[in-house]
Amino acid sequence: MSGKQRVNGVIVAIDGPSGAGKSSLTKLLAARLGYVHIDTGAMFRAVALMARRSGIACEDDPALAELCQRLEIRFQREGEICRVLANGEDVSTAIRSEEIGLLTSCISARKPVRDALLAMQRKMGEEGGVILEGRDIGTVVFPDAEVKFFLSASAEERGRRRWKELTERGETVSLQETIEKVICRDRQDESREHAPLRKAEDAIVIDSTSLSIEQVLEVMERTVREKVAAN
Ligand code: DC
Repeated sequence: MSGKQRVNGVIVAIDGPSGAGKSSLTKLLAARLGYVHIDTGAMFRAVALMARRSGIACEDDPALAELCQRLEIRFQREGEICRVLANGEDVSTAIRSEEIGLLTSCISARKPVRDALLAMQRKMGEEGGVILEGRDIGTVVFPDAEVKFFLSASAEERGRRRWKELTERGETVSLQETIEKVICRDRQDESREHAPLRKAEDAIVIDSTSLSIEQVLEVMERTVREKVAAN
């Protein structure tokens, strides 16, 4: 079987709700395959951070469109670390707070923001050899991606993982509250009008609730390598 030829390899799309393990898995898989990792959630977070700093309300579409026009987002790799640069400023840490996470859920539902980032993401990924993680990669950004995964896990497990991450970072949060926030974010991401979180029909579903990272990684790596060989 022969698929579309891209300059640097295939496109791998990884979608799923927050806390399903997308970021850790994408990072590891990209390192194993020698592929570029594009964290599209970080791009939406960068827009939210800049909107917040400029005092732009989540519903102010004209101001958001203008902000996106002026915004250049880049990923800069230094060994294991991948930094997110917004107009040249390293915003990697600032975009990870709970507050920006919740604001991002609202900002990422706005059409001008989605349109602007869609164009950027397609440009970043079109030559292949990339793994893009997000919510609508397999359905909207690259519906013709050669490999699509949809990662999921129960809301309780995803909330527990998020709580552990925040606690390790020194933040004091309750487990129950963290689970509730995960459920709330899922609802926002699934019910929005533009590019809602949805599984592509041809995506391979992996439920990681009771699987280790290594187990999931093995399945993903094998699947991509088989696809590359068949291409
Ligand atoms: O994956 P994350 O938690 O960093 O994503 C932050 C928010 O951005 C989340 O509410 C979903 C949204 N998002 C999106 O709408 N589309 C994407 N491709 C990636 C993230």
